[in-house]
Amino acid sequence: MDIPAIKVENLFKEFKTKENSLQVIKGISFELQKGEISMFVGPSGSGKTTLLTMLGCILEPTSGKMSLNGEVIYDDKWILKDTRKLRREKLGFIFQSHNLIPFLNVEENITLLPQLNGITKTQYIQKANELLKYLGIEDKNKYMIGSLSGGQSQRVAIARSLANNPRIILADEPTAALDKERAISVMELLRKIAKEQEVAIIVVTHDERLLPFFDSVLKIEDGYLTKTIVTHPL
Ligand SMILES: Nc1ncnc2c1ncn2[C@@H]1O[C@H](COP(=O)(O)OP(=O)(O)OP(=O)(O)O)[C@@H](O)[C@H]1O
Ligand SMILES: [Mg+2]
Repeated sequence: MDIPAIKVENLFKEFKTKENSLQVIKGISFELQKGEISMFVGPSGSGKTTLLTMLGCILEPTSGKMSLNGEVIYDDKWILKDTRKLRREKLGFIFQSHNLIPFLNVEENITLLPQLNGITKTQYIQKANELLKYLGIEDKNKYMIGSLSGGQSQRVAIARSLANNPRIILADEPTAALDKERAISVMELLRKIAKEQEVAIIVVTHDERLLPFFDSVLKIEDGYLTKTIVTHPL
């Protein structure tokens, strides 16, 4: 068996305030292989976004262990010191709210990370425009973010998360603002990337129509992983 792309062992997260504390992730363990695309489902407030932001090295867990492509990044504390570099070079993150930079245009938003990673201008502009074309918004490349519709912004966020050729993609309801056809074309693109580039992908979604695009489904309820269903064995 190959080294898993994502390995989570007995992960916990507790949010503490002065008055109280809230256990949100209660000992979750799972693995995702390279090239596997997995659907995360569960009720609102069950901990899906919390789990994703910990995997994305944005939020610090309380305890447990996380490894990405065989490298331990967290073991009861951050092991990897430069989590920003990891995020910039290896991870693609699509947030529930799109988090685009309002004072940059579409193309500048998408090419920000590739520019930081030292990719040549010709390459990153070409890549950005390929992605925009695939997502059906190539005519918007010079638009400011504020002048886009919700669905268009979401597609820009998707393009941005793919622009640095990430090894792992974490997507939090990436198709929520899209109509059915667009949602399906985004899922087709994500599945293609998973298979062709051996990228591990987690997608949080409530949309059961998208089920055929996934290799596995993980159900999270009240901070526990309650069910794992393999739909397409790798
Ligand atoms: N920064 C925080 N401080 C305190 N509590 C938090 C914080 N972030 C999340 N929570 C709590 O953790 C729980 C899980 O939240 P989370 O956002 O992970 O849920 P979710 O499964 O993504 O829900 P949804 O489907 O609505 O997006 C919720 O009860 C939420 O209020
Ligand atoms: Mg959420």
